[in-house]
Amino acid sequence: MPGKPKRACIVGSGNWGSAIAKIVGTNAARLPQFDDRVTMYVYEELINGKKLTDIINDTHENVKYLPGHKLPPNVVAVPDVVEAAKDADILIFVVPHQFVRSLCSTLLGKIKPTAIGLSLIKGFDRAEGGGIELISHIITRQLKIQCAVLMGANLAGEVADEKFCETTIGCRDSRLAPGLRDLIQTEYFRVVVVDDEDAVEVCGALKNIVACGAGFVDGLGLGDNTKAAVIRLGLMEMIKFVDVFYPGSKLSTFFESCGVADLITTCYGGRNRRVSEAFVRTGKSIKQLEDELLNGQKLQGPYTAEEVNYMLKTREMEDKFPLFTAIFRICTGHLNAKELISCIKNHPEHMNSNLIPQPVHSKL
Ligand SMILES: NC(=O)c1ccc[n+]([C@@H]2O[C@H](COP(=O)([O-])OP(=O)(O)OC[C@H]3O[C@@H](n4cnc5c(N)ncnc54)[C@H](O)[C@@H]3O)[C@@H](O)[C@H]2O)c1
Repeated sequence: MPGKPKRACIVGSGNWGSAIAKIVGTNAARLPQFDDRVTMYVYEELINGKKLTDIINDTHENVKYLPGHKLPPNVVAVPDVVEAAKDADILIFVVPHQFVRSLCSTLLGKIKPTAIGLSLIKGFDRAEGGGIELISHIITRQLKIQCAVLMGANLAGEVADEKFCETTIGCRDSRLAPGLRDLIQTEYFRVVVVDDEDAVEVCGALKNIVACGAGFVDGLGLGDNTKAAVIRLGLMEMIKFVDVFYPGSKLSTFFESCGVADLITTCYGGRNRRVSEAFVRTGKSIKQLEDELLNGQKLQGPYTAEEVNYMLKTREMEDKFPLFTAIFRICTGHLNAKELISCIKNHPEHMNSNLIPQPVHSKL
């Protein structure tokens, strides 16, 4: 990235947005190719009568979404997204996916035409006219900028604690990749760049559905073997989904951090798993538990399950993805969580053995 130092803006300031702000702020201050000042768009809210933006700029801590961690002082919280983004060369999108469209509408025509995007957002949105649309594609279409993605086994609290982990940047344009990597990589946060952009993003969205299944297994007290089976079948459905809807993607992408590693960490540590476990144990609705347990943080798994089901249903493919389908039905109250296993015990994956002929009249 030769020439004038590039400016970065973080569009979002939740749990992950704040953790990545710590990294980006540190790298921007350290590396000459970046401007020191990093703006962070903060959706304004009052905490004990004080504006969150003022708290962050005074104390350098996002006390609501990442308490206990200092942000570098060159990260400046800005409540107006246009003001935050207008001079940026690199826009890092890290808001819950349900807010992307309206933020992009607000930003349209107000950013540098040469800006590039990097989406850290996990989830899909419904496409107008049917099916689903990737969040990075929405950003590209609405703002007319290129948008790479970053996904990985990156629970925000652990990244903020500087515990070692890996991440994956999916970037089709090899000219952009080095700059994005340099802005993000640290000693404890190692970046691998691949060009399989869509598959990286789809992995990041679908693993949250599987995490709900893992949470149901925990809530039902079914044990680690069952959870491993759900994770494996989930991975197979993720691979199949990419194969069917994003042909040309590479199997190797699933072995990057954005694939199997993110799936494992989410099925053991993430909020989607936690809320899904509580859903089974308490009988409360997902929405109620999201409000009660997450302190303003948002869930992705149940919404992603709904969007994926919308796509599968219109294409009459629900039976090809029995785990995704069962999880969607459990989340919406159309199926009891106890039925999860009966829905997947005859999974198409179990019919795939090429060594043993399938019984003609199965009594299983
Ligand atoms: N937290 C993690 O560990 C983690 C890790 C990797 C990826 N992600 C992804 O990052 C994305 C952002 O998650 P997060 O954890 O930073 O957020 P979060 O769920 O912790 O916080 C919610 C954020 O949404 C904001 N918000 C609420 N209403 C809004 C509105 N109307 N308009 C705009 N913003 C609004 C809140 O101010 C807050 O910043 C998600 O797609 C998530 O899947 C999260």
